[in-house]
Amino acid sequence: MDFKDKVVLITGAASGIGEGTARLFSQHNATVVLADQNVALLEQVAASLPAERTWAKQVDVSDAQAMKTLVQEVVDRFGGLDVLYNNAGIHHQGDVTRTALEDWNRVMAVDVTGVFNGCKAAIPELAKRKGCIINTSSVSGVGGDISMAAYNAAKGAITNLTRAMAIDHGRQGIRVNAVCPTMTASGMTKDMLADDATVKHQLDRVPLGRIATPEDIGKAVLFLASDYAGFVTGVNLAVDGGVTAANGQPLYEG
Ligand SMILES: NC(=O)c1ccc[n+]([C@@H]2O[C@H](COP(=O)([O-])OP(=O)(O)OC[C@H]3O[C@@H](n4cnc5c(N)ncnc54)[C@H](O)[C@@H]3O)[C@@H](O)[C@H]2O)c1
Repeated sequence: MDFKDKVVLITGAASGIGEGTARLFSQHNATVVLADQNVALLEQVAASLPAERTWAKQVDVSDAQAMKTLVQEVVDRFGGLDVLYNNAGIHHQGDVTRTALEDWNRVMAVDVTGVFNGCKAAIPELAKRKGCIINTSSVSGVGGDISMAAYNAAKGAITNLTRAMAIDHGRQGIRVNAVCPTMTASGMTKDMLADDATVKHQLDRVPLGRIATPEDIGKAVLFLASDYAGFVTGVNLAVDGGVTAANGQPLYEG
């Protein structure tokens, strides 16, 4: 895979899956635009990538005007946009009764409206270069979890938005797909993965028997962004070690 002369915009690029994916795109010769609200981490990641093919910009994806400005700046700087990877996201623990309205609203603003804002700003530019969109949904966007009401609702929205946008924008030559990771080592899961019981419960459910790395997810993103996926659109690709292959019954021989 070679992304030479391709311009790739990645949100949530300062940490975890976004960072790992940005590094992979960069290793495969892409020009990479790193967007994140965490400016300190963003600068660290940017400094470790080739200066001539890297640009970092602080942005809050929930801010529609900021996303519009960002896309315009990318086009002014690099001449166009080929890949939008909507990856920034936040998590919130709690069932509906234990989710404050402001927490619900913030999860929706970042995880759902953030994707909407990125797509709305980028589609006119992607259409010019027959580009593509990849969203980070989750296994939590294809089934329910315990005590993740807002996150399940948000990722479920992304799963179906991915399908809807694939239909709406296919004739413009824009492919729209999503990756659906299971638990992946990142900033978001650092505390969970520090707890042995949580790790054991997770590993019991993963046929491939390990926690995902950001690169596991990033490799699937690169595939979806590449010509190898030229006839693939509207797909929510499980990158989950087999978690969603199960029907829910216990994964042990009795
Ligand atoms: N880690 C997992 O187990 C897992 C599993 C499935 C899906 N995901 C999804 O993967 C994506 C990446 O998360 P991660 O696990 O790498 O976590 P992470 O916390 O390491 O990275 C998320 C990044 O998004 C940035 N971000 C958060 N809100 C933002 C905003 N409003 N504007 C701009 N940037 C913002 C953060 O600063 C951070 O750098 C998220 O959408 C998450 O829901 C994660």
